[in-house]
Amino acid sequence: MVSSMAGLAGVCTMRNGHLWLLPGLLMLLLLPLRAAAQKTSDCARWCPPNSTCANATACRCSPGFNSSSGVIFTSLLEICEDINECGPLSAVSCGKFADCQNTEGSYYCTCIPGYELASGARMFKNESENTCQDVNECTSGQNPCHSSAHCLNIISGYKCRCRPGWKPIPGSPNGPSNTVCEDVDECSSMQTTCHKSTICINAVGSYKCRCRRGWEPKPGFQDNQLNTTCEEMSFPTWTPPPRIKSQRLSHFFERVQGLGRHFKPALAQDTIQDLIQVVDELLQTPEDLETLSRSDQHCVATSLLGGLEDVLRNLSQALPSGTLTFNASAGTEGERNSERGNTSRGSERGRRRFPTEQRARCGA
Ligand SMILES: *[C@@H]1O[C@H](CO)[C@@H](O)[C@H](O)[C@H]1NC(C)=O
Ligand SMILES: *[C@@H]1O[C@H](CO)[C@@H](O)[C@H](O)[C@H]1NC(C)=O
Ligand SMILES: *[C@@H]1O[C@H](CO)[C@@H](O)[C@H](O)[C@H]1NC(C)=O
Ligand SMILES: *[C@@H]1O[C@H](CO)[C@@H](O)[C@H](O)[C@H]1NC(C)=O
Ligand SMILES: *[C@@H]1O[C@H](CO)[C@@H](O)[C@H](O)[C@H]1NC(C)=O
Ligand SMILES: *[C@@H]1O[C@H](CO)[C@@H](O)[C@H](O)[C@H]1NC(C)=O
Ligand SMILES: *[C@@H]1O[C@H](CO)[C@@H](O)[C@H](O)[C@H]1NC(C)=O
Ligand SMILES: *[C@@H]1O[C@H](CO)[C@@H](O)[C@H](O)[C@H]1NC(C)=O
Repeated sequence: MVSSMAGLAGVCTMRNGHLWLLPGLLMLLLLPLRAAAQKTSDCARWCPPNSTCANATACRCSPGFNSSSGVIFTSLLEICEDINECGPLSAVSCGKFADCQNTEGSYYCTCIPGYELASGARMFKNESENTCQDVNECTSGQNPCHSSAHCLNIISGYKCRCRPGWKPIPGSPNGPSNTVCEDVDECSSMQTTCHKSTICINAVGSYKCRCRRGWEPKPGFQDNQLNTTCEEMSFPTWTPPPRIKSQRLSHFFERVQGLGRHFKPALAQDTIQDLIQVVDELLQTPEDLETLSRSDQHCVATSLLGGLEDVLRNLSQALPSGTLTFNASAGTEGERNSERGNTSRGSERGRRRFPTEQRARCGA
């Protein structure tokens, strides 16, 4: 300090010698110069990187750095090293669902993957600022899963799972994000539990068990359920119109009963043809029916047509799909568009032609 003051004095003298006009100004300049000189001389010149001088013989590590002998040190051999604020001995705590990230001279906290700050910000500094919460990837509009898969929000992420009855397409994992699913054909795999009396029908995401043709659900069961159990269908009941006395009509119903006794669902087509034949014959040879009163004739006709319609609708369940036409010499012609399950449309048309009230009045 003494030597540098002497040097400054020398400069002053020299300048004084040349610039004799401004001695006062120089003395003013000297004041801050002296202060600066004092500071410089108070500062250790050997301070290592990431430190500043504390005084003439000591250095202080920059914030976030430390030396092996502490933040302030006097040894020329010390260096200031980054403090790992995230290390085990550190006082820093980022809190739950968060990671601590050390940087040179500092650190920051981030939410762990699958979590985010309530504010949406990326970083924070202290546990007290921790608002890390699970991100619901499934509802956040990111739509992370393939459209064929179901998104499942889980803690710290999401999963893309195939829906029940679907499976990952070959090569696609039933895993996080890239799962692509396809319908499982339960009917072609061994896992179906359809009863022997039924046929397995694959459906998107599931399957059904449907009665075989000519079979109907056993009492207590419904068709197209997984537990459907069926029995061979029987010939439907066809009751004669009550209180009508006619030998021809009795004969007719005996023949119908005979057809019913020998009924085999597999031969339903033949039975229907026979039935139409029997009705046809009745129309051609009415015999004592012609002696009935007009109202009784009307009653018989209505009852027979309604009954025939019901029986045909019932028996048609046993027919193969497709349109079948039955002929009769008298021109009684039945046509049935056989789409299973859609016969009700035809029956509605039929009921419109033979109103139910009329049939009811006849029976009463
Ligand atoms: C620490 O010192 C190194 C070397 O001089 C420098 O590159 C770095 O920027 C310093 N770090 C800080 C936080 O000052
Ligand atoms: C400089 O600071 C160190 C550490 O605080 C202290 O031990 C030392 O006495 C100081 N030296 C001077 C000249 O003030
Ligand atoms: C700096 O290092 C010293 C000596 O190892 C230690 O006692 C002190 O706690 C450390 N300071 C910081 C802020 O890490
Ligand atoms: C961090 O938060 C705690 C309270 O949770 C507080 O006591 C502490 O001073 C904070 N530390 C810093 C570095 O902000
Ligand atoms: C068949 O399954 C259906 C639907 O699961 C159920 O409601 C019904 O009771 C079952 N029927 C029988 C006879 O087990
Ligand atoms: C057919 O008639 C029989 C006997 O009347 C009845 O048990 C059965 O449920 C009917 N089937 C259909 C499909 O209408
Ligand atoms: C019905 O009659 C048509 C022609 O009138 C004939 O081509 C057809 O084979 C007959 N069908 C039956 C089942 O007898
Ligand atoms: C039944 O009819 C409806 C309306 O015409 C049609 O959409 C449906 O596919 C039919 N069902 C079957 C089993 O044919």
